[in-house]
Parts: sequence; structure tokens; C-alpha cells
Amino acid sequence: MEVSKIAVIGAGTMGHGIAEICAISGFEVSLNDVAENILNSAIEKIKWSLEKLYEKKQIKEEPSQVLARIKTSTSLDEVLKDADFMIEAAIEDLNVKRDIFKKADMLAPSQAILASNTSSLPITEIAESTQRKSKVIGTHFFNPPVLMKLVEIVRGKYTDDATLNVSIQLCKKLEKEIVVVNKDIPGFVVNRILARVVDTACMLVYNGVADVEDVDAVLRYRLNFPMGVFEVADYSGLDVFYFIHGIMTSRGFKARLCPILEEKFKNKEYGVKTGKGFYTYPGPGKYQKPQLEKERATKLDPSIILAHAINEAAYLLREGIATKSDIDKAVMLGLGYPKGIFRFADEFGIDRVVAALEKLSEITGEEIEIDPLLSKMVKENKLGVKTNEGFYRY
Ligand code: CAA
Repeated sequence: MEVSKIAVIGAGTMGHGIAEICAISGFEVSLNDVAENILNSAIEKIKWSLEKLYEKKQIKEEPSQVLARIKTSTSLDEVLKDADFMIEAAIEDLNVKRDIFKKADMLAPSQAILASNTSSLPITEIAESTQRKSKVIGTHFFNPPVLMKLVEIVRGKYTDDATLNVSIQLCKKLEKEIVVVNKDIPGFVVNRILARVVDTACMLVYNGVADVEDVDAVLRYRLNFPMGVFEVADYSGLDVFYFIHGIMTSRGFKARLCPILEEKFKNKEYGVKTGKGFYTYPGPGKYQKPQLEKERATKLDPSIILAHAINEAAYLLREGIATKSDIDKAVMLGLGYPKGIFRFADEFGIDRVVAALEKLSEITGEEIEIDPLLSKMVKENKLGVKTNEGFYRY
């Protein structure tokens, strides 16, 4: 099936960015949300972004030419009636998504594929609200979609090969790199790993081991991450993280919500969008990179921040949810890490990672189940770079 018209449902942080990349790649886009003012604000943001990309010669067409391919409407019927492919990017609420998919199933042409940008909800249950379960799939983009190269493509229980192939081809036309997630598990690959880093970082701060800036300085200056973890949380929205965490844990992901995150959510300190989160910004929606002193980067051992994420990655690999190279690719392209999570593990040393997990359990008072794969590697002396073999051979 040839895709030429794409409907994007939801014009918030992710929806407007997805609409923008679709239009940049030459597709006709119809963007929908519940109110005109949300759509107007989305178009303003797309315009700003296109002008930035044009100035830097990252797009060839003038912004106005790209914008001409994006139509907006508050009517679902209007945007879906001739769509070949829908990408839904509404709020992370299963009932809302199921309702949208139920309506989309009735409004869109029968051959159209219905995709969700959900980062944590089950594709299978979303599909069950339609009569075309085999044509429902997950296409999970990362924030900001114009700059982040990754899309996690998630197969639900009913997704057929044709739907998977059309979705892969479409994402390639959007110039994205793809990781196929074989099982519809909560948080897929990237958000499970990210959740472990956010939770660890937040619990270290909550337990008085480090300050927000100490953690972010380690990540930025010693591990060369593009953003510290609290920066990413503020950037994407603490409300988003709060909801995703709730959904993931309700679906069996074992984690405790960090009390600081809970408090910030209750105080509506959502990060960049409200002007305050872990950091303070010049105003609501005004992003400015937080200043971090380099000296702070020496206060914490980097392995303790990443240990739980490495443990999670070991689980994903052992369970066959994604391949080793795809998991590494996912964190590099979805989170901007300078190298894969397994490379970090091998460099720290697997024994050091296990020791860091034990220390983390002591600090937080919560037991962490060490993944059997890590224990086996320690037993077999596959400790990483220092023994010439860990997740990779050296
Ligand atoms: N469109 C166009 N340009 C944009 C832009 C956008 N939407 N957003 C930012 N830019 C511009 C900036 O304004 C800046 O321009 P100038 O050079 O003119 O100042 C330029 O891009 C680069 O920005 P930075 O200086 O901040 O450069 P950077 O090298 O740090 O790159 C980044 C930015 C790609 C976002 C990088 O910081 C990064 O990879 N960060 C990690 C982001 C991340 O982890 N995302 C995942 C979030 S989690 C998620 O999405 C999953 C989920 O389900 C919750």
C-alpha cells in the first residue's frame, strides 16, 4: 500500500512534531485536536521549528511550502475520511485512545493503517476497540521528533506483516531509524530503560546522596549525555513521566514512584511547559539549557546512576524483547546516549554494576532483583572490557 495522506490525531508536544516531519518528507498531513487554539499553537511551533531548520539548511524547501501540506481541523471525520495512515498522539489514557481508535475505525478508509504513538499502553488493547485489529500498530517517536532519529515499532498481538512492513517503509521515508519491539510490554524498550535512570536519579536525590545538578553533571560531563536525566524529564514533561510511570507499574513494571516526582506533579511543576520542574526556566514553554558547574560531576560514581538501567536492558535481552544491537541503537537514537547501554556496562565492569545495584538497594531500602544474565556473567568472569568479554568481545 502506498501512503500519501497522513492523519495526526493530537497536536501537543509529540503530535505537532510528528505532523511536521511527515510534511517535511512530502506527505499531505491533516492534524486534529479538540480545540482551535491548540491547533493554532501547534502551527506556530511547527513554523518556528521549520524556520530554524531552514536557517541551518537542514530542509531544502521554504517553511511556507512545507506548512502548505499541513491542514488542521477539530473534526475527526474531516481529517480521517481520506487518510491512508493515522498516527494518534493524544494523551496517555487507554480509554481516550480506545475511543479515538473506535471512531477512526468507522471514519477512515477500510485499508488505512491506524498507529498509536503511545509509549506505555498496550497496542493489543487499543486494537481491540476496532474491527481492523490486524491494521493497528505502535509507532513510538521521541521528543523532539524532528531531531530524534528513532521510532520504536511495536507489534500488538494481532498486527499483521503487511501492516508492519508499510509502517517500516513509512518511517524510513520519514528518515527514521527503526527498532522493532517484538512483545507488547509496558514501556517497550526505551521508556523502560529511561524509567530506571529517572527513578534511580530521583531516589538518589530523595535520599540525600546527591543534588539534581550533581546527577545531571555526571551524565553530561562524564558520560557525555546530551542532557542530564532531570533535564530530559523537564524537557518532555514531568506530567508525562508521572502518567507513564503509573501506567507501566499498573501493568506489572516493578517500580516505586519517587516522592519528589509525585510532589512536583501535585504542585503542577511539570518542567519546561510550566516554567518550573527540577529546574526553573525563563517562562512557561521557554526552554533554556540549565547551567551546570563542571566540578559537580565528580560527586557521584556514574555506574550507580546507570546500574538499574543496565539491569533492565539485561532483562530485555534475556527475554528476547529486542536484540542487543537494537537495544543499544534504541538508547543512542531515542535518548541521544553517546554509546549503547551494554557498552557502558562493559566499560564499568559487570561486577561493578552488580555492586552498584546492591548499594542502590541499601540506599533506597528497596530490593532490586539482579537479572540472572548479570549474575551469570559475573560467575563466568565475563566482566566486560577488563576481561576482554562482557556483552561484547574486546
Ligand atoms: N525544531 C528545530 N530545531 C530545534 C528544535 C525543534 N523542535 N528543538 C531544538 N531545536 C534547536 C535548538 O533551538 C538549537 O538551535 P541553536 O543551535 O540555533 O541554538 C538546536 O536545535 C540544537 O539544540 P541544542 O543546543 O540543545 O543541541 P543538542 O545537541 O543538545 O541537541 C537534542 C538537542 C537532540 C534534543 C539533544 O539534547 C538530545 O538528544 N537530548 C535528549 C532528548 C531525549 O532524551 N529525548 C527523549 C525524551 S523521552 C521520550 O520522548 C519518550 C517518551 O515517551 C516520554
